[in-house]
Formats: sequence, C-alpha cells, structure tokens
Amino acid sequence: MKTSIKRIGVLTSGGDAPGMNAALRAVVRTAAFHSIVCIGIYRGYQGLVDNDVRLMNARSVNNIINKGGTILKSARCLEFRTKKGRVSAFKTIQKNDIEALVIIGGDGSFTGAMIFQSEFNIPVIGIPGTIDNDIFGTSYTIGYDTALNTVIEAVDKIRDTAISHNRLFFVEVMGRDAGHIALNTGIGAGAEEVLIPEEDMGLERLLESLKRSEKTGKSSSIVIVAEGDKTGKNVFEIAEYVEKNLPYYDVRVSVLGHMQRGGSPSCFDRVLASRMGLYAVEALLEGKSNVMVGVKSEKMILSPLVKAIKGKSEINKDLIRVSDILTI
Ligand code: F6P
Repeated sequence: MKTSIKRIGVLTSGGDAPGMNAALRAVVRTAAFHSIVCIGIYRGYQGLVDNDVRLMNARSVNNIINKGGTILKSARCLEFRTKKGRVSAFKTIQKNDIEALVIIGGDGSFTGAMIFQSEFNIPVIGIPGTIDNDIFGTSYTIGYDTALNTVIEAVDKIRDTAISHNRLFFVEVMGRDAGHIALNTGIGAGAEEVLIPEEDMGLERLLESLKRSEKTGKSSSIVIVAEGDKTGKNVFEIAEYVEKNLPYYDVRVSVLGHMQRGGSPSCFDRVLASRMGLYAVEALLEGKSNVMVGVKSEKMILSPLVKAIKGKSEINKDLIRVSDILTI
C-alpha cells in the first residue's frame, strides 16, 4: 500500500438505501484486514460536526449484511453547508486523528465531501448509495436493485385489485430527478405507460394509449409515474385529468413512498456493496482521493467525484421502445 494511513472515518449520508449496512461492513472489515483503525461517524455529516463517533472493529458489524437502513444513521445536514459547520467537522477529524474519509451516499453527500476535501485537504472517497441510481460513474448504485424488487412486488399486488375491479391504477414511484426506477419497474411489472423526469411523454399520448388499450380489450391497466415526471402535474392531478377525459375508466392512485427505501437488501445489492466497500478502502490506501467507486461491465472503477456530481446519468432509451412495443 502506498500511503501510511492508519485511521479512517466512515459515514452514511443523505437518503438511506438498502445495502448501506453491507457497504459499512465491508469498509470496517477491509480496514481491520489491513490493520487500519475505523471510526464510525453517526448521522452523516451531523456526527462529524457534533463529534458523534465510535470506534468500530470487525465485530461491530456482525449481523448487519441483511439489514435495511443504516446502523450509522443518516441525515441531510444543513450545518455542514456552512463554513462554521465544516470547521467544527474538521475539529472532529483532528480530535480523532482521522486521516481519510469514506462517504456512503448520493450526489449531495459527495458535493459536501469535495468541498471539505478542498478546504482541509483530507482524502475522501465516495461509495454511491441511493435507490434512484442517478449517479454518473457507475452502472448501479447501492439500493437500486432492492428498490426495483420492492416496487415490482407492490405493483404485482396492485395488479390483483386492478384486474378484479377492472380499474386503471396510477402508481407513483420514487425518482425526483431520475426515471430509472419508473422505467425498469414499468417494464418489469408490465405497465401500460411510464412517465419519467427525463422525457416529456405528454398527457395526450397517455390518453391515446389508454383509449387504444380500452378498444383492444384491456379491462385494467397500470401506469407508473416517477415522482419528478415531466408533465408538471402530480400523480393525483394526472389521474384526475384522465378520469375527466376518459370517464369510462375507474381510476385509483397509489403512492408507494418510503417503503421503497426500506427492507432487506437483495443479493445483488449485498454483493455490490461488499465489493464497493472493499475497493474504496484499498483505493484510499493506494493514495486515491476525491474519487467515487463504481461498477461498469462488472469491473470496479474509480471516477473523479466532480464527474459523479456534475455528470448526468442517462436513462436507457431502448427501454422506452421496449415498453411501448410490449404494451400493444
Ligand atoms: O433517496 C432519494 C429519494 O428516494 C428521492 O427519490 C426522493 O425524492 C427522496 O429520496 C425523498 O427523501 P426524503 O423524504 O428523505 O427527503
């Protein structure tokens, strides 16, 4: 290993995601493997500001690989956005002799990490943890696969009621800025239409599609709406609009909400989190900083944090075509 780093800090920040615990376990155990002291920082950057930290060893992370949420807890910390807050955070770094930081979170958390690194010259490395999968520099973020499976399970259940009552369901899924969850679960759950933030599908197109479905003999339908979809209307307004224009539909709305963030991580997320946690610690020990770990074509990669924040994670447009054709 190239550096002489002997003590690292780790925190989880932003929205929790299933698999964050598996990533933490990997970070703590890889540190132990390399005889590095690992310090857990509680409530994200808030714990750094408040010196809310605890030493962690290989046994501190027993029995968490299967747990949703994050045992370190998470927060969106406003204080850390101020210079005063970051000065307090740096005092925690000094007090605990922390020589490098592992940040498990999303792009907001990485922005904070970059600013902190530039102000106090402490090495930082990011591990992408968010169900939205909206981070440039990795094909998958930790928690995304589990969230997809949670949504599919819920929509399958909603379909039972849709069929039994000949209803049209609008199901809102998470994704403030990204349609990955909506698009993939739309195909996976066989939804009639998918509304996403990246493309304006247009309400007229939705009406046409629903009219066609009715004419071709479909008696029930499901439309998946990402919470940040481009129509400018929320899911209830969209449902009302459709009900007004196509009164023969019996319309219902279901907002899945935060249930999508919880639950035991899928095997995919556990493996991804384990690989990312290990890779992150070893990259830090190799002297890397200001980078995020990612996975592309099954290989672990590093990309500059600034790219992870500023780059745009594109949706796969091919999936729109798949969805369109298969809902004929
Ligand atoms: O984790 C990201 C996300 O799932 C977004 O899709 C959603 O808008 C947001 O979290 C809501 O999170 P909170 O209620 O914690 O602010």
